[in-house]
Amino acid sequence: MESIIVSAESKRYPICFDNSFSSLAEVCEKTGLNKGKAFVISDTNVGQLYIKEVIDNLKTYFDEVHSLIFESGEKSKNLSTIMRFYDVLLENRAERKSVIFALGGGVCGDMAGFAASTYLRGIKFVQIPTSLLSQVDSSVGGKVGVDYRGAKNIVGSFYQPEFVFINTSVLKTLPEREFKAGMAEVIKYAPIASPKFYDFLWDNKEDIKSIDEKAIRNTIRYCCMAKADVVSKDEKEGGLREILNFGHTIGHAIESVKNFELLHGECVAIGMSAAMEISVSRGYITKQEAEIFRELLRFFGLDLTVEGVTAEEVYKQMFLDKKVKDNKLSFVLIKKFGKTIRTNDVTEEEVINAINYVIR
Ligand SMILES: NC(=O)c1ccc[n+]([C@@H]2O[C@H](COP(=O)([O-])OP(=O)(O)OC[C@H]3O[C@@H](n4cnc5c(N)ncnc54)[C@H](O)[C@@H]3O)[C@@H](O)[C@H]2O)c1
Ligand SMILES: [Zn+2]
Repeated sequence: MESIIVSAESKRYPICFDNSFSSLAEVCEKTGLNKGKAFVISDTNVGQLYIKEVIDNLKTYFDEVHSLIFESGEKSKNLSTIMRFYDVLLENRAERKSVIFALGGGVCGDMAGFAASTYLRGIKFVQIPTSLLSQVDSSVGGKVGVDYRGAKNIVGSFYQPEFVFINTSVLKTLPEREFKAGMAEVIKYAPIASPKFYDFLWDNKEDIKSIDEKAIRNTIRYCCMAKADVVSKDEKEGGLREILNFGHTIGHAIESVKNFELLHGECVAIGMSAAMEISVSRGYITKQEAEIFRELLRFFGLDLTVEGVTAEEVYKQMFLDKKVKDNKLSFVLIKKFGKTIRTNDVTEEEVINAINYVIR
């Protein structure tokens, strides 16, 4: 089985790739997990499809395998759901060496990881991401948490898993809209990782779109390597990790102003298009380079415009983001492919022009 290593300051752990769940128990053994108790957490959609297979496999290694399923969707990502997790852990006498398995998308991984980081001041956990977004982004890096009173991910911690297990075959059941939104996060890595990845995406776009096993696995591996690299250098967002927020400054604001009607990845795609416009106006990249990048996003079915918002309301919303420091907007701009800059000197005029560029 193929794997790559994340060397975060607090922990080193592998990301394993396979096209089924059959080697899961083997990885548990290799990583030396205690054989006592396992707790599999999943949401209603993913649980229905895959939890039985995962439980059956884990039973070949663990003495006890318990499970818990919560209602799918961001609306479940709160402390009430976490309390339900704690109840199951308490009822079944989970110990520090017990292991929580997060089987699902980013909502499941963030919540299961948060429960693991807080229960008994930290029990072991494993990420089994099943959405494209969670396979390329949320399962790697150790940011875990929940929403609170409408504020996204406002309660949380940094807590690394024992390992990440990516079964790429589950992407076949992912709703198409979720797949496309995940592709925005994939493409996000293109200008910030190596230019080789950008070429790879162009060369393999048809196969990736049809979720061809080899193409999609290579794609996800590239993204995980890029994320692992950034996380290795800056686990707790001291600065460098911010480059992963390319497209997010404007994207997040649009997501909020549109009342979360659009998916996160859909807004990131729009946000990247807008950020590209700032790079063009500053002469960092040519208009044509920006257009080719946008063409790739459009190929995967991403709409790069938004309606029903004004530039002023999006701009105002940007200052409410939890990442705003000293009332300054922080931007990731592309200087050339493979080279980014982080800056907080973008002017109001530049931002308004960029937002207007994506409003239809
Ligand atoms: N921790 C981080 O670093 C980080 C990074 C980015 C995003 N996030 C968080 O991730 C969350 C979004 O993640 P997401 O997009 O995976 O959302 P999600 O977990 O809600 O999954 C999206 C939808 O797809 C379904 N699904 C997932 N895998 C499936 C599969 N294989 N087959 C069929 N259906 C499947 C889910 O049930 C859900 O309905 C947000 O809460 C966001 O804050 C965290
Ligand atoms: Zn994102």
